Amino acid sequence: MTADVRAIPRSSETLSHQGGFDTLEDELHYTVAPADIKGSLPAAVSGTFFRIGPGRNKIGGQEFGHWFDGDGMLHAVSFTDQGVVYRNRYVRTPKYLAETRANRIVKRSFGHNAPGGIRKNIGRLPANCANTNLVYHGGKLLALWEGGRPWRLDPVTLETLGEHDYDGQLGRFNAFSAHGKVNPRTGVYYNFGIRPSFSPRGALTGKGAIDLYRIAPSGHLLEKGAFEVDFLSFCHDFALTEHYMIFFQSPIAMTSPVPWLAGLIPFDRAIAWRPELGMKIYVVRTLDFQVEKVFTVDEPFVAIHFSNAWEAGDGKIHVDLTRYEDFSVNEQLRHVLHSTGETAAGRFMRYRLDLRGGQIEASEYRNALGGEFPQWDQRYTTQPTSVMYAACMMSPDATFFDGVERIDLHSGQVISHDLGAGRYTSEAMHVPPEEGDDNQEGWLVSMVYDAHTHLSEVVVFDARTLEEVAVVPLKNHVPFGFHCGYTPEPFVS
Ligand SMILES: [Fe+2]
Repeated sequence: MTADVRAIPRSSETLSHQGGFDTLEDELHYTVAPADIKGSLPAAVSGTFFRIGPGRNKIGGQEFGHWFDGDGMLHAVSFTDQGVVYRNRYVRTPKYLAETRANRIVKRSFGHNAPGGIRKNIGRLPANCANTNLVYHGGKLLALWEGGRPWRLDPVTLETLGEHDYDGQLGRFNAFSAHGKVNPRTGVYYNFGIRPSFSPRGALTGKGAIDLYRIAPSGHLLEKGAFEVDFLSFCHDFALTEHYMIFFQSPIAMTSPVPWLAGLIPFDRAIAWRPELGMKIYVVRTLDFQVEKVFTVDEPFVAIHFSNAWEAGDGKIHVDLTRYEDFSVNEQLRHVLHSTGETAAGRFMRYRLDLRGGQIEASEYRNALGGEFPQWDQRYTTQPTSVMYAACMMSPDATFFDGVERIDLHSGQVISHDLGAGRYTSEAMHVPPEEGDDNQEGWLVSMVYDAHTHLSEVVVFDARTLEEVAVVPLKNHVPFGFHCGYTPEPFVS
């Protein structure tokens, strides 16, 4: 079954994506009946698709300073024989609760200070808004935010169960990134967090450190480690191979921490693109969390999201990623509520790191459209894969991701799917095929916002062709968010 159930011709008039940033106050729970689903859901898509992102970008008429400050809302879409069950809930962080009660901005955040001047901001960290990514691991559903600890939710009701500290092993000031990765062969979950160096010499010279975490399939934190880096920098994601964690340390750093620590400016205004600091790639062993190799990059760039990575067997590590030339992407993300221009889209690249010789080779997937949110068949995380999927910018006048693309990593061939005028998307999750399926590449599931109706749809694509094989119409819009997840479990009560 490959019929494209939804093909809207693109007109010269582009419908704005901006409604996709509207707040969704309502917390809903309903079922979309099978009769209302367009096309046909593949049997393999029978679990739960999660999506997380800011549910609101303002409070009491006051806009937050940055898209990253929106309060985290989790959306869950469970595929069952009785229909598709949708529910959504805000994560009950202290920020969400305090600002809901007050109906105004109360907390200092990534992109804005709290009202009340220096007294209300000095020495305070940005508030955790649990809005960036999610993981279901060890039987626990966690909403992630890279500056603090995760928040645990009930996967069926999405009720907030509390901040999760792995039995006390994550301290109050420990960061836990939004981009941990699970090795599918072992079930071990690796994650990291950035912080200033606490070593006497490191602290004096402004060095940074990256904490490392190894978490058992049972969900217990087995081991912590750390290594020092040249400076404290924004590090959003990493690449995982069978034996290594790989960190690209881009020079996004503070010029001076003093104005931020003194409460004069928010964190977002304290960090800047500083290519003079240089860029390094740290290859760290998963076995003992020791640094195996450090590469120096000649021309610094920004690597935000990584796709799959693996050890090629010739001493080289292959890493696929999205690349930006500088940190101007942050300007676009900061002003995203009012932007009518192009949304940030990265270039898709392959890096080959030679562990023996120390060379770095880089090549670009030149046929790929600018895009973001690279994904792959996660059954093969740490092993060679031949395909990458991403949200992309289809039309020259696109203001947000209006397509999906499939990049053949061997030939460089690209297949893209235009969602049609007024339809916008973000990350798509891969769902493996069932044994015996004709389609052995599987499916993609994504959320699509339709500006015509100001409603969202859950769309299932054939991963081989990107044709839309099923469209599940929701009764609400799902505000644009950041990341998604998929579990084979259909979490319904
Ligand atoms: Fe991310």
